[in-house]
Amino acid sequence: MEAIMRNFFQFLARNKRVNKWAAKYGLHLGAQKFVAGLSIEQAITQVRLLYEDGRAATLDHLGEFVRSEAEARQSAYMCLKALEAIAEANVPSHLSVKLTSLGLDISDDLCFEQMCHILNKASEHRIFVRIDMEDYAHCQQAIDLFKRLRKMYDGVGLVLQAYLYRTEQDLRDLGQISANLRLVKGAYKESPEVAFPKKADVDKNYLKIIKQHLLNGHYTAVASHDEQIIHQVKEFVREKEIKRDQFEFQMLFGIREDMQKKLASEGYTVRVYVPYGKDWFGYYMRRLAERPANVWFVMKNWMK
Ligand code: FDA
Repeated sequence: MEAIMRNFFQFLARNKRVNKWAAKYGLHLGAQKFVAGLSIEQAITQVRLLYEDGRAATLDHLGEFVRSEAEARQSAYMCLKALEAIAEANVPSHLSVKLTSLGLDISDDLCFEQMCHILNKASEHRIFVRIDMEDYAHCQQAIDLFKRLRKMYDGVGLVLQAYLYRTEQDLRDLGQISANLRLVKGAYKESPEVAFPKKADVDKNYLKIIKQHLLNGHYTAVASHDEQIIHQVKEFVREKEIKRDQFEFQMLFGIREDMQKKLASEGYTVRVYVPYGKDWFGYYMRRLAERPANVWFVMKNWMK
């Protein structure tokens, strides 16, 4: 049953028509729990609340199905607006971006150009920009583009996903350019030809790559809500005397707030991923796919 629901939500996340339909309406169906708002102003309000509570943030302007050059440029413009809003509010926030929303499916050069606009503005305000990792089909392109950008900018990082077989090798390669990486388990539906189908194998690989990147002395953002993983990372950094300014924990807005607060109170850097924007539906469906139990939460909202 859980697998069917997972597939159903993954299907909805990718369905352009439903996404476009949902974008016409405000935040609904319980999405407010996971999405900070429709506008940058609403998102900044949430970032400020997190900051007052000892947590940092990374803002993500949600955008799916970018197919034209004009749409890619519009997405980049929204990122520039977000950078200006962060600088103006003077809050500790990074920016997270998705390359497909910046035109990766149209051309590498168009996407590279948009990233340069974003990184120029980000450098001006000393704001770090993280490139999210999307599905396997875009993985190599994202890595290549990141390497090009990393030669020009310091304040840019990438995400690698533990469920992919290739990640261990990618981690080694990117270690050579001291890449600042966010490490995650992986959120997309992938085939067993490219990704570990069993959760136990993903978890094992996840811990392995986290340890490898930390031991190599590179900055590591451990982005997970998995208590076991977090506990083992805490033990590992203590044992190996890895300084707290070499890593941080990251979690998603609205998920495991208790753990976010606890880690922050223990003196760890905790960064919350704060998504906002009218294209909220695909992001929300991916969160439901990760944990179909969230559906009960949705049903309760529908019935209210
Ligand atoms: P796991 O799925 O094993 O969950 C562990 C526990 O966390 C669950 O038992 C539950 O308590 C809680 N939990 C997890 N997901 C939940 C949810 N949706 N709702 C409620 N509780 C939940 N992926 C990707 O492919 N590319 C990317 O760029 C990113 N970026 C990213 C940034 C940040 C800050 C985070 C935290 C995550 C991502 N991800 C991502 C998503 C990531 O790949 C993964 O799908 C989710 O984090 C869920 O995996 P966990 O590590 O939390 O463990």
